[in-house]
Amino acid sequence: MEWIALQHALLSHLPVATGLLLPWALVASQRPGRGIRPWWTVARYLGWAGILGTLGAFLSGFAKGRLSALPPAHRLLPAFFSGSGPDVLLFRHALVGVASLLVGIAALWAMNRRRKDHESLGFLALALGLAWCAFLLVAGEGGYRLAHRGAKAPVPASPNSTASATSTPSVLWVVRDPETDLPVRALDFASLEPIYPDPVRSLAHGSRWIRTWASPEAAAAYRAGEPLPQGALVVLSSAEDRWGRPGPDPGPLYALEMKASGPAFTFYWPRIPMNDRREFGGDSRVYWRGSDVHLDACRTCHTAGMADPSKRSRLRPKKIVLDE
Ligand code: HEC
Repeated sequence: MEWIALQHALLSHLPVATGLLLPWALVASQRPGRGIRPWWTVARYLGWAGILGTLGAFLSGFAKGRLSALPPAHRLLPAFFSGSGPDVLLFRHALVGVASLLVGIAALWAMNRRRKDHESLGFLALALGLAWCAFLLVAGEGGYRLAHRGAKAPVPASPNSTASATSTPSVLWVVRDPETDLPVRALDFASLEPIYPDPVRSLAHGSRWIRTWASPEAAAAYRAGEPLPQGALVVLSSAEDRWGRPGPDPGPLYALEMKASGPAFTFYWPRIPMNDRREFGGDSRVYWRGSDVHLDACRTCHTAGMADPSKRSRLRPKKIVLDE
């Protein structure tokens, strides 16, 4: 599921490309008369490629939504009205995605209807095909906005007015900390080295099921339980427990980064399940980092950064062995 979800950005380029290429082929295949068949073929080929891409984007998009816990596990789509910002963006994106799949199937059917040799591909194919392309492009644009929500362009700061209003105007570029809204590096934990394949239950972290991921230069030291090198990043991805096994609700991400100034902790939970929100003052999302007071509790076990290796959890879910 994770693997499929991580392919979403890649897979969704094919439908977007179809949205850009198909209109030309559809328009070209509208001319009736001899020699038009090759244009039917072009349109149909793009149609099939586009529908397979849409299907791939649809499945991986669904998995990706699940993985980032948007929408919450018990709902198929987030509530349109209760959510704000990313929720609404995601809802629109999902809606347009579903529409593009349905209209795409109709358009493909229209393009593949039986035609006489001298006929054009038909107005129905053109109309449905163009509508499909519009949906594909809108879905692609919505996906782009969702993916790049956190990274806004640097804002030009207002010129220093007190210093010298007469001197040549200078534009200061404020470089925004890329982790202001999201722990970008910790979220990309799948690109780090997994320390073990199956989740273990960690009593120290809310009895959740955790997996540990370490940056490549730190993995060997982490495994050996030796002090981590400077710059090391270790992330725990987690899942909430359900009936003694990792459940469908993703838990928070816990991260430890060894900075020159000392160990830095991060706690990020993009979507807190309804029942747990009271612990977090009713918030649906938390992101604590740096000197946040909530992280002081972490330091009881993480005085020097890494927790005592002898205290690492070992409890794994029992493998169910099916015998004949
Ligand atoms: C009760 C002690 C305890 C507390 C409190 C605690 N941890 Fe841990 N932490 C551990 C132990 C033990 C491990 C080793 C992994 C495991 O088996 O759970 C660990 C592992 C980690 C790791 C992986 C690197 C390492 O040290 O092994 C990170 C990152 C982490 N914790 C972050 C946090 C954050 C962030 C908090 C606070 C929100 C926190 N921890 C609170 C005990 C604790």
